Amino acid sequence: MKEVFSHVYADERGYLTRNLVPGRRVYGEKLIERDGIEYRVWNPYRSKLASALSSGLMDLPFTGTSKVLYLGAATGTTVSHISDIVDSGVVYAVEFAPRSMREFLNVARERPNIVPILADAKDPLSYAPLIEKVDVIYQDIAQVEQADILVRNLPFLRPGGHIMLCIKARSIDVTKDPELVFKKEVATLKPFVDVTETVDISEYEHDHSFIVGIKR
Ligand SMILES: C[S@@+](CC[C@H](N)C(=O)[O-])C[C@H]1O[C@@H](n2cnc3c(N)ncnc32)[C@H](O)[C@@H]1O
Repeated sequence: MKEVFSHVYADERGYLTRNLVPGRRVYGEKLIERDGIEYRVWNPYRSKLASALSSGLMDLPFTGTSKVLYLGAATGTTVSHISDIVDSGVVYAVEFAPRSMREFLNVARERPNIVPILADAKDPLSYAPLIEKVDVIYQDIAQVEQADILVRNLPFLRPGGHIMLCIKARSIDVTKDPELVFKKEVATLKPFVDVTETVDISEYEHDHSFIVGIKR
């Protein structure tokens, strides 16, 4: 097993993160022990960030002390791996569906670096008092106006901080060519963000792409 990004490991099983809560699983993932340390196998069919890694993502902008704003936490599959990575940092995790939030709270309760926030990512002022400036904004909300929602949250990102955006082309407009939809979303970001990578993750998630950029 070797460390391929800060706090992210790889072996023949794929990518793994060091379990912040040894002995506990979040979504039925495999647990592996090496030299007394427990790792969680990161499933690329369950987490789009693992899909992006498996599809050749070159820059993973998290370190052990990163502060992250995560929009669209759902039940916490990907948030939990980011929480493993930023073990001395914090993940502010926004989710607007009460049902998902209830399940997510079971994950957040065990992980001291997750701050769960029940709110609509379209209304950043509603959670502004709860968060601080962050190093990374990660967004996976599968909705219309995905890039617009990210832009509304950019005031929380420090200059030079990274954005990571999952684009689901069919959520935006089922009638349009996904390629055109990706281009339009990138164009929405461009006045504010230098796009550094686009990764096609459709091998794992149909019609999905992943965009990485740096705030100017
Ligand atoms: C595709 S799922 C996210 C999966 C999750 N990121 C993961 O990898 O574990 C999209 C989530 O975004 C949430 N969502 C959609 N629109 C939202 C909004 N405007 N504000 C907050 N959450 C939103 C949905 O309720 C859903 O749980």
